[in-house]
Amino acid sequence: MFIKSVSLHNFRNYGDEEVSLSEGLNVFRGNNAQGKTNFLESIYLCSIGKSPKTSKERDLINWKENSAKVKVVVQKKYYEQTIEIMLSSKDKKTVKINLIPIRRIGDLIGEMPVVYFAPDEIGLIKDGPAERRRFLDIDISQMNKNYFYALLKYDKLLIERNNLLKKTKSFETLLDTIDLWDTQMADTASKIIFYRLDFLNKIRKPAMDVHLLITNNMENLEINYQGIKSNVLSEIREKLYKSYKSTIERDFDLGYTTVGPHRDDVEIKINGVDIRNFGSQGQQRLATLSMKVAELEIFTELSGEKPILLLDDVLSELDNYRSKNFLSAIKNYQTILTTTKYTRKLDEKDSVFSVKNAKIERVK
Ligand SMILES: Nc1ncnc2c1ncn2[C@@H]1O[C@H](COP(=O)(O)OP(=O)(O)OP(=O)(O)O)[C@@H](O)[C@H]1O
Ligand SMILES: [Mg+2]
Repeated sequence: MFIKSVSLHNFRNYGDEEVSLSEGLNVFRGNNAQGKTNFLESIYLCSIGKSPKTSKERDLINWKENSAKVKVVVQKKYYEQTIEIMLSSKDKKTVKINLIPIRRIGDLIGEMPVVYFAPDEIGLIKDGPAERRRFLDIDISQMNKNYFYALLKYDKLLIERNNLLKKTKSFETLLDTIDLWDTQMADTASKIIFYRLDFLNKIRKPAMDVHLLITNNMENLEINYQGIKSNVLSEIREKLYKSYKSTIERDFDLGYTTVGPHRDDVEIKINGVDIRNFGSQGQQRLATLSMKVAELEIFTELSGEKPILLLDDVLSELDNYRSKNFLSAIKNYQTILTTTKYTRKLDEKDSVFSVKNAKIERVK
């Protein structure tokens, strides 16, 4: 699929702006603080239903206004689709697909899958496990609604279980009541882990291949799930159920649940070295990119539609040959890329836009 046009109304620093995009690479070039990241954010919002940067929706509305709107027109294989998001400083946001309001955000997820990369995303490797889980959660949700709903359910159960751990006075009373939660937690959590393992199994090989390609065979990328490892759902469930039981004393002392998918992590290695701790900035950045590129393939395989790639200022830390290899690895996907400078010789098909003080103009 590809985005044909994006219309903005009072979104962030924008007033009214409409942009027609091309199917291949779309480069958005401009100085700092002109609206490049804001433009990508508006597209991400139409895909995921929230901003990658903030949970405060008021921040997305132009400071001088009280409401904002973003509309994208997407060309899918067999039909065209419109996604609109209306934000208001007073009411809850409304999302419409082909003019029809949706009832829950789950109905939007997966309609227009995007793979997003911004400088912050490097946190996926550098920061803590929470960032890595966020990456899994957002990206798997887009491919698999069951995963999305399992996450919502698990979050709720976890809060309830933690409340129980905190508030129950005696350990004996806790033992009498907790099983109801452990059973439900194990049911839901096992699905989450099962889908995560499945996802990592799918991206492992393509990510390694892409990474070898971009680094001219210098770097071998390895990705592994740190948590329960089993391909059998019932086995995962059984193990989880047992670990909720075996850690109950510790959980009671601490007042929260210490095992489960909300504590798992992803191990990322290059040539055998754990780059979460020992990777250079460029290495960490490129490993993240390779994982994102691998996802493009998986998305396409699963849905039959190509996702859209949103890249915020990615080339700044890659050396020339890595940038070149990277751009050639993504050439079959619609890509919207921002940059402050751009020197690579453009392909015939590439489009270039200038972004200046919230005005977007096509240059090529
Ligand atoms: N709600 C808002 N209303 C008005 N302006 C806003 C709002 N939110 C952010 N801005 C402004 O939008 C401007 C552009 O931000 P943006 O992050 O898109 O810049 P950029 O072009 O990506 O710059 P850089 O190259 O530095 O990343 C910023 O100066 C910011 O203060
Ligand atoms: Mg920016």
